[in-house]
Amino acid sequence: MSNILVGVTGGIACYKTAYLVREFIKKGHNVKVVMTKKAQQFVGHTTFEALSLNEVLRDDYTPAPISHIEHASWADICIIAPATANIIGKINAGIADNELLSTVLALSCPLVIAPAMNTNMYNNITVQENIKSLKNKGVKIINAESGLLACQTTGEGKMAEPSVIAEKVLNILNNKDDELQVENDILQGLNILITAGPRKEYIDPVRYITNKSSGKMGYALAEEAYKMGANVTLISGEVNIKSDLENIEYVTSAEDMYNAFLNHFNNADIIIMAAAVADYTPNHKQESKIKKNDESMQLMLSKTKDILLYAGQNKRLDQILVGFAAETDNMEEYAKSKLMKKNADIIAANDV
Ligand SMILES: Cc1cc2nc3c(=O)[nH]c(=O)nc-3n(C[C@H](O)[C@H](O)[C@H](O)COP(=O)(O)O)c2cc1C
Repeated sequence: MSNILVGVTGGIACYKTAYLVREFIKKGHNVKVVMTKKAQQFVGHTTFEALSLNEVLRDDYTPAPISHIEHASWADICIIAPATANIIGKINAGIADNELLSTVLALSCPLVIAPAMNTNMYNNITVQENIKSLKNKGVKIINAESGLLACQTTGEGKMAEPSVIAEKVLNILNNKDDELQVENDILQGLNILITAGPRKEYIDPVRYITNKSSGKMGYALAEEAYKMGANVTLISGEVNIKSDLENIEYVTSAEDMYNAFLNHFNNADIIIMAAAVADYTPNHKQESKIKKNDESMQLMLSKTKDILLYAGQNKRLDQILVGFAAETDNMEEYAKSKLMKKNADIIAANDV
């Protein structure tokens, strides 16, 4: 059980910090919260008091005579989430003009920040320099992600999900961070497109052809790529997997997947095709349920678009294409042949 100090500053992502505090409490840690004045315009301190089971240190209320020093020495780790451009700049400059900043200056434990802001603010050269400078001073940074922002633009600047922040903070506490930090940087800034799960090819409104793919492989790869810092887009069939990943597009048929795939293909640095795409689809999907009249029936199927082949034929030199070959026989031989035929860079051979 550790003492975790959570700093909250004035950004829209403040509401997510309530979940972060819950996450730490659920895992049995002690949590104290320090809020800036601006943060309290987004979420009231009462929420954090109820969740953390402790009084909240803020500019107009200090639970003890010298609360910033007491909080700083109490903490085993301090996480500021969201960290505004303002707080990042001020910490980097050594300013201490509020309770949170004074506490940060007095810390002797690791400091972690999770920046969150509008994309232009995040990419602003001074903000980036401040983040880099803090990193060089030993502050751990949980990078902002890409996604739809509160200002209705899409881009970098979204605060990492509370579960991701909690995991990273606890890893730092348990000294597993150095290893993670190396991993984190490996895929930083890369766009990775991953496909997962089965497809359904409808015969009539109630019947379809599918396969046994669970989607676990694609989802596991997507989660790992995300942890290593990549911007991940996952195109998924219908699966029974819960995921916190932001960019998941659900598709049903091979045709749907082809269309979704085309939207992201050019933008992807790495493409990993772990989905089990149907090779054939019924020639005509019946609009009404087929009735059971004849003793036997024939279903005419035609080939679906070969998405891996398309990717292999159209990929640029700077794109890496990974395919999967799930085989019941001659696994190595078939996988090697698929590697060549589809012009992939890597084929993962899966023994069914
Ligand atoms: C509606 C609204 C949303 C804001 N969202 C953010 C944000 O996500 N990130 C950020 O850096 N600043 C954001 N700001 C600006 C900060 O609130 C402002 O810089 C403030 O001075 C930060 O104070 P603090 O760092 O002491 O909490 C927002 C302002 C408003 C009015």
